[in-house]
Amino acid sequence: MAQYQITFMPENRAIEIEAGTSLLKAASKAEIYIKSGCGGAGTCGACKVTVVSGEVETTGTGNLNPDQIAHGVRLACQSFVQGDLTVEVPPESRLQEHQVLMGDVKKGILQESTNDILDKYGHKPLANKIRVQLPEPTLTDNASDWARLSVELKRNLPYEKNIEIPLSVLRDLPEILRQANWDVSLTLTDLDDKYTITRIEPGNEQPPYGLAIDIGTTTVVVYLVNLKTGAIEDKQGTYNKQAKFGDDVISRIVYAVETPDSMQEIHQAVIDTINELTDKLLARQNLIQADLTAAVVAANTTMTQLFLGINPRYLRLEPYIPTVSLTPSVPARELGLHILPEALVHSYPSVASYVGGDIVSGALITDMANKEEVTLFIDIGTNGEIVLGNQDWLVSCACSAGPCFEGGGINFGMRAMSGAIERVEIDPETLDVNLTVVGRILPVGICGSGLVDCLAKMRKAGIIDRAGNFQLERSSYSARLRQTPDDKEFVLAWAHQAGGDKDIVITENDVKNLIRAKGAIYAGIRSLLQMVAMDIDLIDRIDIAGGFGNYLNVPDSVQIGLLPDLPAEKYEFIGNSSVKGACLALLSQKAWREAADLARKITYVELSIGTTFMDEFVSALFLPHTDLSLFPTVEG
Ligand code: FES
Repeated sequence: MAQYQITFMPENRAIEIEAGTSLLKAASKAEIYIKSGCGGAGTCGACKVTVVSGEVETTGTGNLNPDQIAHGVRLACQSFVQGDLTVEVPPESRLQEHQVLMGDVKKGILQESTNDILDKYGHKPLANKIRVQLPEPTLTDNASDWARLSVELKRNLPYEKNIEIPLSVLRDLPEILRQANWDVSLTLTDLDDKYTITRIEPGNEQPPYGLAIDIGTTTVVVYLVNLKTGAIEDKQGTYNKQAKFGDDVISRIVYAVETPDSMQEIHQAVIDTINELTDKLLARQNLIQADLTAAVVAANTTMTQLFLGINPRYLRLEPYIPTVSLTPSVPARELGLHILPEALVHSYPSVASYVGGDIVSGALITDMANKEEVTLFIDIGTNGEIVLGNQDWLVSCACSAGPCFEGGGINFGMRAMSGAIERVEIDPETLDVNLTVVGRILPVGICGSGLVDCLAKMRKAGIIDRAGNFQLERSSYSARLRQTPDDKEFVLAWAHQAGGDKDIVITENDVKNLIRAKGAIYAGIRSLLQMVAMDIDLIDRIDIAGGFGNYLNVPDSVQIGLLPDLPAEKYEFIGNSSVKGACLALLSQKAWREAADLARKITYVELSIGTTFMDEFVSALFLPHTDLSLFPTVEG
């Protein structure tokens, strides 16, 4: 097959590529990551590039206008190499390697909001470390090294269980015992009916560490946890490198099943993401890989299967069956994680194809399964999972809200990170805007909480009607409201205020996407309530999770009909409950065992059966809803 040279600009990075390769794949090979919301289906328009010189074969132009096409703009996923090329990748088409907003490290989120729950479960981590001094062998005391060690260990360990030593650790045993003068520290995995020795080193008091990992469809977050003290010592987060294969789980599954190579590629992308974050944590804390003695992963079912390298094909085919719900714990070396090779990696169990371990982890944090009061737990993210219930019953569903609240599918949408507009005020008279930006820097986009604010404030100011249609007659009050050749839009920040060459705007199309996303979540809540024949007023508590950054504005969420019109004191915003649940499991064997029971206890409701969800969804496509009696505190 003919090979051609492609040069990517402005990096001026050249690589050799086979004829017929898409520009999207070619860029990825050159380690230039282009947004590909639809996973290369040619529908999202996120992968725009400019062909500066050379010829490509184009199979689709999506939403590109004739002017753009005349200027060489192409969709990278729909353009195939036919000769030597120079291709410019503009900033807006790139996946940015921004840091995910992590909050204050030293405060320790676990300490803030899960102290009670850790007290309840007790501090007994999944791995610990013990120091032992062995008697030296003599001609009359000639037991083997391992027999000598296991006798001493049994004397020091709190429970009588089998003790196992893998061959790889056994190989190190004779030399380390003698080098250390028979004073050694042993790292042990303590799970179920046995102890497993995962590391032997000369005697020291250094604590063991563990990783709590949240693999989100969009972002990956890793917490470094001191297993001895229970403190979160550090955190790191970034984009999931799988994002280059599609924004949502469906496009990732479609990509993964394409070829055996693509399955390996998408599996490796998430391992690489975790390893990159782990390496940063190790460097910052002056630790080595062997100090990381356990890991707990919380992720949705697709992410868990891709993380473990299990083909996700049947997750999206009726009747939507995962390969495994109670996932086995596996040694890190099988996955290539940058931690102690013998350390066990535990993945949270899932409920069903679209309610996964991240939700079980979050539900554990809410403690809803142990309370008499009825809790509604909602994860406002791409998959929109909801759990409703109490100690007697638990039901769940996933309402596919799409990536809007995580910034996807919105022109200037972004994750809650530096430069994201997180709060919006609009003067109803002058339509002047007041913005709060994460990191107090010039704005570059708008995150989930900003979008919720924006929708509520635009409605209040009469910029949009209840269906989300722009009211252009209001443009006489302000130049911010305007018609462009492509769409109607409202300017949140002028280019000079944003430090760029473009105004930051919300378009009518963005608004419609947001209304669909909020409608899906509200319809999911209503469908679950109908399923258990329960009135909304009987909900005692609502716990909201999601990547909203610093906060979620509950009154504004009610204004737009995203959340039920219930008293504000019933609501609590619990942030990234998925990673908190992973921390909890790392620190408490009892919590980890309970997670498996919890996953079994939650009943999954398939929303695609029957018409309830669709009817509810259509009724929710208004601000706040077609049925205003559901929102008594909101003016129509
Ligand atoms: S249009 Fe190319 S990835 Fe979506």
